[in-house]
Amino acid sequence: MAIQELLSIQGGVPLRGTVRVSGGKNAAVAIIPAALLAGEPCTIENLPEIEDVKVLKEMLTWLGAKVDFAGGVMHIDPRGVNKYNPPYELVSRMRASYYLVPVLLGLFGKAEVPMPGGCNIGARPIDQTLKGWRALGAKVDTMRGVMAAEATRLTGAEISLDMASVGATVNTMLAAVMAEGNTFIHNAAKEPHIVDLANFLNSMGASVKGAGTDIIRIRGGRPLHGTTYAVIPDQIETGTLMIAAAATGGDIVIQDAIPYHMEALSAKLLEMGIYVHDEDDRIHVRYDGVMRPINVKTQVYPGFPTDLQQPMTAMLTIAGGQSVVTENIFESRFRFVDELRRMGANIRVVDRVAIVDGVNHLVGCPITTTDLRAGAAMIVAGLIAEGTTEIGSTQFIRRGYENIDVKLRQLGAKVEWITRETNY
Ligand code: EPU
Repeated sequence: MAIQELLSIQGGVPLRGTVRVSGGKNAAVAIIPAALLAGEPCTIENLPEIEDVKVLKEMLTWLGAKVDFAGGVMHIDPRGVNKYNPPYELVSRMRASYYLVPVLLGLFGKAEVPMPGGCNIGARPIDQTLKGWRALGAKVDTMRGVMAAEATRLTGAEISLDMASVGATVNTMLAAVMAEGNTFIHNAAKEPHIVDLANFLNSMGASVKGAGTDIIRIRGGRPLHGTTYAVIPDQIETGTLMIAAAATGGDIVIQDAIPYHMEALSAKLLEMGIYVHDEDDRIHVRYDGVMRPINVKTQVYPGFPTDLQQPMTAMLTIAGGQSVVTENIFESRFRFVDELRRMGANIRVVDRVAIVDGVNHLVGCPITTTDLRAGAAMIVAGLIAEGTTEIGSTQFIRRGYENIDVKLRQLGAKVEWITRETNY
């Protein structure tokens, strides 16, 4: 006997009302480790209370930092940090744990961090990260499942990434801040969380310029100090709520968002016939009686984000015709499609392309989730479907969506966490 947690959704209710978006997960997981570099206490505000942030708190505490986290605010005092080798049990619980490598390297001249965990959405190589650290003068060995890095001295360098990788850009920026001299990262990732990390580092006294463009310039080796900083709103949570509102035939206003970050999604929703209107930090999304099929191709920012591909595919299952979704970033991000099919969706996947023929409705049933954003897709599907959907493997949803049940209930949805005894 085991107790299983499920997210239960009674579908068919159009979302209506106003909801506030939480702080950004992917900004938070880069900024929290970076705070150790300050050498003085830092306060980070607007953090989402999600598993990934709680795991990072445990990791920093294990390393010797004093960390308090309540009400979305984290106080980090890094002065007691005295270890450079966090354990596998913690590191394996999230992808971004490898952001600790450049931080510990900068502080101690060495770091030993087990290879990162995270969602199983593709091979997720780290060759570009290794290239960045090595260019700055680190010796890095990845044998035995551990990233072991050493450097008596880091020196600024010109680095050209083969692809605009978020992870490689973050990892190189963090090492470059502690390197002597200038670093240029060419073909850098431009995602909003890269800009947020740069702003955070600058608020600690670093000199990072050009974040949000293809070339980031870092003047390394400057003295850093404590700071207070609020992370940006979560672009993917915002997008998931926009899609959920449109897909359920709803009418919602999302508050505390950055509409500018949502342009790729907004353009696609408008193409489908959905009303989207921005005003300052609010986005109004309304279904106006049409849901046309569309073609979507995932791209690096400012293109359509891979992290919204899955919830968008769930919505397209009930659009009025055939849509084609191409996943260009992660090769295994269509594993969730089997679950949508069990709910009545008509989807064929050929390699990295999903052909989605809209059906009249989905039908609720027990389903599972294969990764974090698949969890968001399952929620969208459950909200659309007739009857009850019970979503399993909820740990994925808890990794990245703060109070998602509360937010959806606030918008009128019938959603609750339940537990059930199982025989397996
Ligand atoms: N890539 C390489 N070599 C590298 C690095 C990346 O070939 O050294 C390839 C990847 O295989 C992939 C592409 O480059 O095809 C982009 O990968 P990227 O490095 O940008 O992704 P990531 O840093 O592993 C971050 C987010 C992901 C998000 C992607 C793309 C964090 C912690 N994770 O991952 O977020 O999907 O960027 O935007 O920021 C999520 O939040 O659910 C999530 C998976």
